[in-house]
Amino acid sequence: MKYKVGIVGVSRGGSYMHHFGRGTRSEITALCDLKEASLAACAEEMHLPKEACYTDYEAFLDSGIDIVVVSTPIPFHEEQVVRALEKGKHVFSEVTMANTLEGCTRIREAAKRSAGTYMMAENYIFFHFIQEWKKYVEAGYLGRIHYAEAEYIHNIRNLLVDTASGETFWRTYRPPIHYCSHCLGPIMALIGDGDYIVKATASGNKNTMVSDFWPSTIDIQVALFETKQGRGIKIARSQVTPVPEPHTVYYSVYGTKGFLENDRQHHESVGHRYFEGIDKETVPINCYQTDVFAAEYAKKSHGTSDYTIANYFLDCLDFGRTPLLNEDFAFELTVPGIIAHEAACQGNVWLDVPHFE
Ligand SMILES: NC(=O)c1ccc[n+]([C@@H]2O[C@H](COP(=O)([O-])OP(=O)(O)OC[C@H]3O[C@@H](n4cnc5c(N)ncnc54)[C@H](O)[C@@H]3O)[C@@H](O)[C@H]2O)c1
Repeated sequence: MKYKVGIVGVSRGGSYMHHFGRGTRSEITALCDLKEASLAACAEEMHLPKEACYTDYEAFLDSGIDIVVVSTPIPFHEEQVVRALEKGKHVFSEVTMANTLEGCTRIREAAKRSAGTYMMAENYIFFHFIQEWKKYVEAGYLGRIHYAEAEYIHNIRNLLVDTASGETFWRTYRPPIHYCSHCLGPIMALIGDGDYIVKATASGNKNTMVSDFWPSTIDIQVALFETKQGRGIKIARSQVTPVPEPHTVYYSVYGTKGFLENDRQHHESVGHRYFEGIDKETVPINCYQTDVFAAEYAKKSHGTSDYTIANYFLDCLDFGRTPLLNEDFAFELTVPGIIAHEAACQGNVWLDVPHFE
């Protein structure tokens, strides 16, 4: 039996269209978007009839699909994910979980009640080098991780607001630190240990680089997080700071016996490691987002992470496993950013981050 997969939001969803649309385990049977032209182009690419294209989300959900890939703008995630879960569908949802604390809570509750499985598609955890780092951590080379930091600096001014016409888009209203799961995902997955964030503060509530002030045009936000077990985490996020492509995706992880870090700006980068008692000095290591030995079709976007995470989700369904990125972890990777922005707005105060036992 092949899983019948429907994709809502065919822009970013186009990447998963290819990964779920090939192989023996799944096939694309329905597409949904508000833009008919985009639907028609994707349907042609996947050799789907026009009957497989929907602009009505409810009709799309009722078309016999098993899995819904939610790739619409974040403000739509809450309603679309909850509705799919209520209908017992498996949901593979783009990041972040939702744009409000209430939305994340609602999705979490719907997932607990549903016969379907929810997973947030935080693909950066599946970068090849992060998976390699996980092996070092599990083998004890770092000792106990006690501090980590990450930066995701991506100049996407053209996606935030059209400064000439004043036209706004969905990202216009997204503060940089709200989009924190690309940073927190790999870090919290490496820490593991049942730990989670309990407190947040942040700086950054001004813009100097883009003429109009919108939540998204804040120059940069830097958040500090404290975990239940006393670990410190620092995240820097900007959507306007000029960095050349490939943009900055940086992680460093410090433990009681050493550290790991990648290069800030080269996605197939050389990073460094130092393991006390093993390395005499800092040692260069490959930090490729791509698994260079993977098949060419697996290298379609974000290194091999999109392909790997799609397969991981199908594995979880096939073997009845709870995904790492289930509704609880999705909540823990999304809500700290929402609280951190609130902390910045309140004047850099420390705020509690909600957690469900
Ligand atoms: N994981 C990653 O690396 C990554 C990369 C890019 C985007 N994203 C996520 O993917 C999602 C989509 O981002 P994007 O860049 O494709 O946005 P986008 O604005 O480029 O495209 C959104 C698409 O959804 C459609 N759409 C909008 N509202 C809809 C609705 N109510 N019902 C059906 N279709 C609707 C639009 O017509 C458009 O085709 C977001 O959640 C974003 O955070 C993740």
